[in-house]
Amino acid sequence: MEAKIVTLPGDGISPEVVAEAVKVLRRVAEVYSHTFEFEEALIGGAAIDATGEALPAETLKLCQESDGVLLGAVGDPKYDDPRSPVRPEQGLLALRKGLGVFANLRPVKLYKQLLHASTIKPEVIADVDLLVVRELTGGIYFGERARKSVDGVQAAYDTMFYTVPEIERIVRVAFDLARKRRKKVTSVDKANVLESSRLWRETATRVAEEYPDVEFDCMYVDIAAMRLVHYPNVFDVIVTGNMFGDILTDEASMIAGSIGMLPSGAVGAHKPSLFEPIHGSAPKYTGQNVVNPIATILSAAMLLRYSLELEDEAQAIEDAVQTVLAEGYRTKDIREEGTILIGTREMGDLVAERINNG
Ligand code: IPM
Ligand code: MG
Repeated sequence: MEAKIVTLPGDGISPEVVAEAVKVLRRVAEVYSHTFEFEEALIGGAAIDATGEALPAETLKLCQESDGVLLGAVGDPKYDDPRSPVRPEQGLLALRKGLGVFANLRPVKLYKQLLHASTIKPEVIADVDLLVVRELTGGIYFGERARKSVDGVQAAYDTMFYTVPEIERIVRVAFDLARKRRKKVTSVDKANVLESSRLWRETATRVAEEYPDVEFDCMYVDIAAMRLVHYPNVFDVIVTGNMFGDILTDEASMIAGSIGMLPSGAVGAHKPSLFEPIHGSAPKYTGQNVVNPIATILSAAMLLRYSLELEDEAQAIEDAVQTVLAEGYRTKDIREEGTILIGTREMGDLVAERINNG
């Protein structure tokens, strides 16, 4: 197969982890005789520095014409000033919107070698295998917002806004995926307070009737947050809005031992799709060869699976990660006594070396 993959190295530690994922993809291409062509483009703080824009038109165009997009992370403390007119995160949101990737799949799987790396008790998380389906191009991230003066004081608002078609399509994605898993969907909202959540719940409940073979329940987001660390096995597929999904997946990453372990893939009605680790740009670790590239490497595996339909190759990457962990190699974030501490590049090398065909 021939495929054109756009890589977006982004900010902070992100170029380092993207480089390791590319290394692994090149190895897959070699072992399975594919031709992957890589093209790099600017996004986030790096793009603002070079062009003044967080998502240059050229980047979006390159991505739209590709077979799959692999992103690291964006975010630079230089632009954290709340009065900054342009911020790196705007580039990411514009890219998601521009590609129309409304469904963000965030699998939370615990590699058994990391059972004790988590701060949560092993018996609580031992069998966790869940998937968060986060709505990605709507909700409070994209609703109307402004600052204004009210009775002489400064005020600001953001709007959580969802249409029925937006809710229907994301809930259907969740049910279709649940059919290939343990056949259970939990819709997470705050319907005891928010009108947009009441519409979400009403719509999700109606869509659920199309899937009588899939178990369905609804849960308030505060309770879901508690259950995730109390009894995460109750979940198979969680479907939720943009902001709740953002928060719950950082929490859920602690089940997997580290935020450095969780990949994600954003898909829409059309290709290409967008793949990125759920973690941020971790600026304070930049250039030290210490961060964990596995989340990005596993995101590259998701790219092979969802964009290129190369299931065996995706599995080969996941197996290679498992092998390297079983051999005892660990980056700093997942280090435990009795394991071998290695850096970002060494982790990429080892995973790449362990890729084999069948
Ligand atoms: C994520 C990140 C982004 C988000 C930020 C960087 C805008 O936290 O992908 O989870 O909130 O979606
Ligand atoms: Mg997040």
